[in-house]
Amino acid sequence: MLDNNDHSTPDGGTTRRRFMEATGGIGLSAALGGYLASEPVRAKRTSERVRTLVSEMSLREKIGQMTQVAAYEVGDDPTAFFEEYQPGSLMYATTDDPVGLAEDVNELLDASIEAQPHDVPFVFGIDAVHGNNNLDGATIFPHNHGVGATWNEEYARRTAEHTSETLRATGTHWTFSPVADLQRDPRWGRFYEGFSEDPYLSSRMVAEKVRGYERRESGYKAAGATIKHFAGYSEPRHGDDRTPALIPYRTFRHAHLPPFHAGICAGAETVMVNSGSVNGVPAHASKELLQDILRDELGFEGLVVSDWHDFYRMVAVHGFADDVKEAVRLGINAGIDMYMVPAADIESDTVDTYQTYLRELVESGEIPTDRVDDAVANVLAFKEALGLFEDPYADPGRASEVGGGARDLAYEVAADSVTLLQNDGTLPFDPEVGTVLVTGPSADDVANMMGGWTLGWQRVGETLPPAVTPLDGIETAVGDATNVVHEPTGLHEFDNESAVREAASDADAVVAVLGEGPYAEEHGDTDTLELPAAQRELVRTLDSVGTPFAGVIFAGRPRGTDVFDRLPAAVMAYLPGTMGGTAVADAVFGNVNPAGRLPFTWPAGTGQLLNVHNAYPPELFGTGETPPTSTQEPLFPFGHGLSYTEFEYEDLRVDPATIPAERANRRIVTSVRVTNVGSRSGDHVVPVYAHRRGGAIPSPMTEVIGFDRASLDPGESTRVNVRASIAQLATVPGDVFSKDELRVLPGEYAITAGDWEEERTLTVV
Ligand code: NOJ
Repeated sequence: MLDNNDHSTPDGGTTRRRFMEATGGIGLSAALGGYLASEPVRAKRTSERVRTLVSEMSLREKIGQMTQVAAYEVGDDPTAFFEEYQPGSLMYATTDDPVGLAEDVNELLDASIEAQPHDVPFVFGIDAVHGNNNLDGATIFPHNHGVGATWNEEYARRTAEHTSETLRATGTHWTFSPVADLQRDPRWGRFYEGFSEDPYLSSRMVAEKVRGYERRESGYKAAGATIKHFAGYSEPRHGDDRTPALIPYRTFRHAHLPPFHAGICAGAETVMVNSGSVNGVPAHASKELLQDILRDELGFEGLVVSDWHDFYRMVAVHGFADDVKEAVRLGINAGIDMYMVPAADIESDTVDTYQTYLRELVESGEIPTDRVDDAVANVLAFKEALGLFEDPYADPGRASEVGGGARDLAYEVAADSVTLLQNDGTLPFDPEVGTVLVTGPSADDVANMMGGWTLGWQRVGETLPPAVTPLDGIETAVGDATNVVHEPTGLHEFDNESAVREAASDADAVVAVLGEGPYAEEHGDTDTLELPAAQRELVRTLDSVGTPFAGVIFAGRPRGTDVFDRLPAAVMAYLPGTMGGTAVADAVFGNVNPAGRLPFTWPAGTGQLLNVHNAYPPELFGTGETPPTSTQEPLFPFGHGLSYTEFEYEDLRVDPATIPAERANRRIVTSVRVTNVGSRSGDHVVPVYAHRRGGAIPSPMTEVIGFDRASLDPGESTRVNVRASIAQLATVPGDVFSKDELRVLPGEYAITAGDWEEERTLTVV
């Protein structure tokens, strides 16, 4: 429970954010550090410097601070541009050359500071979402759904720390990451940008990624993080990006908000708003979302930035405002502090129109001056936290040193994410197998292992990131002992069937690397989870040949349905980035024992969506009473993941066994003895699940309430102690449309661990 003590900042300011940073740690419950606490809502007190600046700035300067524009819009005469618009933020790299970017940003900073009456520098932002993925030579880490599969939040922190180091060295102060949206619908093109469908697993990852980006350097935060997209963005009813979401309050509160709250507790400086509408209201126009929930309930005190041209979208897409000026009024009054108006290609929504509208609206009193001052204070406080008033510049010398590092880390994350979906004993292959055929569309394709947001929005452009493909990785893994043959196929074409058939017949083992090509945002929306026909055909061909074969999947979501009927063994490798090929080769040839677990449910098809493990009962499979047409049985359940060894569980304990409801966010220790009873060493993730048995408001069928990952040699046994909290099962009591406070309801909670069915009971009184 949080207290009422004063938590002053060194300059005398008090922020709830700082207090939450200091107290809302992972220790108790990352998702709910403070979530259930009766926190006082404090008035924000900004620093003396920020207060003075706000009081001295002209309206023109203030409007500038509330503007974010793409660096490529600055043009050939930066001084003239900065004098005219004085943007508080620039975004997007001017070049993919790290040194060139550092130099460009430094030059732009000179021009902007010169033009800014109070010498306030801009803050420079980029989407560095899986490494510093806009820059040539940068190490690319797995996308977030792969990080989720490791169940090891240290990876979220360490990859973000490395990214943060390379950001600051290349002139970038701010990354629009991490995504705190839950992955509930795999049709959605942004599924891979989130960590998990589970609120608690996501929360732990989000918190650590924020901490990693915002690590301190010389007393300031090295880079600012953005938790996005607030909120409810990931569950558009039709699965298509930026189409309306309809989310019951109970689900919204219980499932969608915790990862944001965890990011806020970890200190996230900024929040980006959901471009879509929730229950009919565009998030950008929602005071309820941006003020009542984000500020008053979750305690966020940082900067709220819009997403791309979303005031315009309020008119053109949502039909919610009559014109962009009206949208500006709605958006700023709802709580947007900075408008992302990057490009001048939309005539009715340029930096010029936005600034003109905002000025007119303030002058007419339709936007109160206090709201503008509050927004500007948030922008300036962010810059202050980053140390930009002291030194906004990059050292181009460092830029050349830092890129391309952390490959070992990239390998570890990719290897620990690899998830063995099924295996009839085919895997691992013997590195001395003789001849191995490596085939499929992604066997040697850098773009397919990266996904979107990698040196390009939709796919890798001309500059390829450093990458070890599966073909490279397998060649290294087998050394001279085995002959490697490569027969590529296409994502959507399979016009070399006879060559593949022949090569497969001649081989002793076949690895088929399947899956999706890269995509981002709405371009990735899909109506099917089947693999393309060409790949299904490839699998049929390999199946008919009879040589032992395994499928590896690179995809941004659970992609593949009936294909699993014919795959003797299958591995999910997510979008693993630079070291993906080494990780895959090591898993397939047994140097690594796969231990990843799915951070999402793998549905049998789109017909059964939304199919998530934390749905409400009844469970529509396994009862024997369900008509066959309504089966919800997924192909692979949430948390699924096999190993080359076997683990046995015994002696599950829960301590304490009873807790009072008002102390529900108190830590409980769940422990279980795990023994490696197989013949190989291996890691084993132990998720702890809970659900409430019965009650007026049913609890979701399973929820993760804690997890740990252990390494065990053959025959080794250990007691895995998992710090958990029942607070994750807090729900909104009351009737269908209740908006009551989130609470942990008294009752009996069933606790299980890992794949073991035995239950213990925790009683909340
Ligand atoms: C739009 C995307 O929705 C958002 O995630 C991203 O940060 C911005 N564009 C900037 O690229």
